[in-house]
Amino acid sequence: MEESLRWLGQVLAVVVLVLRPVMSLEMQCPVPSIPHGQLTPAQNLTYGSTAMLQCDAGYIPVGATTTLRCLGGGRWHPRLPACVLGHCPYPPVIDHADRGPQHEFPVGTTVIYSCRPGYTSLPEVSPVTTCLKNFTWSVIPKLCQKVQCPSPVIPNGRVVSPRKAEYTFGHHMEFQCDHGYVLRGSQRIQCWSDGTWRPPMPYCDKVCGPPPKITNGHHASLTTEQHSGLRAEQFPYGSVIKYSCMEGLSLIGDNAIYCTSDDGENLVWSGPAPQCRVVRCPKPVVASGRMAPQGLTFPYGAAGAFSCDVFYYLHSDDPLLWVSLSVLCPPPQVLNGRLKSTFDAETWYQTNATVTFECLHGYEFADNGVMSSEGSWTATCLPDGTWTQLPKCKREGDADVCEEVLYIKMVSECGVPREEIKNLLEIQKLFLEIKKLKVELENLTK
Ligand SMILES: *[C@@H]1O[C@H](CO)[C@@H](O)[C@H](O)[C@H]1NC(C)=O
Ligand SMILES: *[C@@H]1O[C@H](CO)[C@@H](O)[C@H](O)[C@H]1NC(C)=O
Ligand SMILES: *[C@@H]1O[C@H](CO)[C@@H](O)[C@H](O)[C@H]1NC(C)=O
Repeated sequence: MEESLRWLGQVLAVVVLVLRPVMSLEMQCPVPSIPHGQLTPAQNLTYGSTAMLQCDAGYIPVGATTTLRCLGGGRWHPRLPACVLGHCPYPPVIDHADRGPQHEFPVGTTVIYSCRPGYTSLPEVSPVTTCLKNFTWSVIPKLCQKVQCPSPVIPNGRVVSPRKAEYTFGHHMEFQCDHGYVLRGSQRIQCWSDGTWRPPMPYCDKVCGPPPKITNGHHASLTTEQHSGLRAEQFPYGSVIKYSCMEGLSLIGDNAIYCTSDDGENLVWSGPAPQCRVVRCPKPVVASGRMAPQGLTFPYGAAGAFSCDVFYYLHSDDPLLWVSLSVLCPPPQVLNGRLKSTFDAETWYQTNATVTFECLHGYEFADNGVMSSEGSWTATCLPDGTWTQLPKCKREGDADVCEEVLYIKMVSECGVPREEIKNLLEIQKLFLEIKKLKVELENLTK
């Protein structure tokens, strides 16, 4: 019996020896591979021992507990653990800024802020926040500031609304110009969300004073431009003043003046005011011509059209194309003469028209002192509106007597002594006597 018990013991010892490694394997838990996490301790995990699950930064363990117990054979309680990506809470509220529309914020998420209208982000500040691995948001310092409009500078004017240290979105400002200046632009402006003034900053412009007044007339402004704050006696550059006279008076000078600048700086009226006066011009005297309209006197500025007795006539259907084709000749006038044929009588004669003259009874044609005994004389109308030489009808003997008288007159005026004139007259008398005799002689021979 003892012998057999010893043998059993020996057998058990052998069994234990053989099974020991198998049993020890069965009692251990191998270290599992956990994404984004690990267990501690990570070795010698035997049946019943515990380990702690630790997740990487930004990850959190799944399940209620992080303490694990080895159940042997690779089994754990609670079941095999895992680490999942953690989330951040809602991002912080940034003053005067809005953020993107996300609702889930896993670690690493970035959220971008933008400043609300009227605000602008500070240049050196990043508008981005990131969900950190400790599940907090990276800090954004003050991001948005109110938009500022440039401080008003208005030469020759001033701000009448309350002065401010700085002008931000929504602020209003009102201006007024100094005396002698007029505001160009809007009197009231507002700082806009983009940092500009709207309407744009006005400026103060020089003005012309009241325009000169005239007697017996009045003036009116032709400029319809409206300027707030523009008083009745202020006229900006370019203003036009138009003058008019009382009924029946003539306006002398320019009827309009305008506000301008000679030196590019000061504004002046372009000229003196016109005058209103009674002006009548007499009818102009036109030799060989007429004037239209008819009348004895004419007011200042009236225009007259003159037409000449000798005129050009129109040769074209086109009223702009006036071609001088020919000039007409007026009826020829001959003292003590007349047209031989009444068929020749015309108001105007065309070029190359011919007329034939005869002298009145008792008269004869004379040419250079020599009487022509021919019964007729022909003249032709020339292209320049004149006649070829017209005849002279003279009473017989007239030519010589007249010439002699003229000669004597000339001689006496030249201071020729009276004695000599007397002699000349004697000679003249003799000459006439001879002439008379000659005529009588001719009559006898007929
Ligand atoms: C594991 O346990 C064995 C036996 O107890 C020991 O010799 C060994 O040093 C242990 N290993 C570690 C890393 O603790
Ligand atoms: C989270 O981490 C950031 C950067 O590593 C650090 O500045 C901040 O203080 C941490 N927050 C907390 C609450 O520990
Ligand atoms: C007038 O006569 C001249 C000479 O005969 C001639 O050359 C000319 O064409 C004529 N003019 C007219 C308008 O008939």
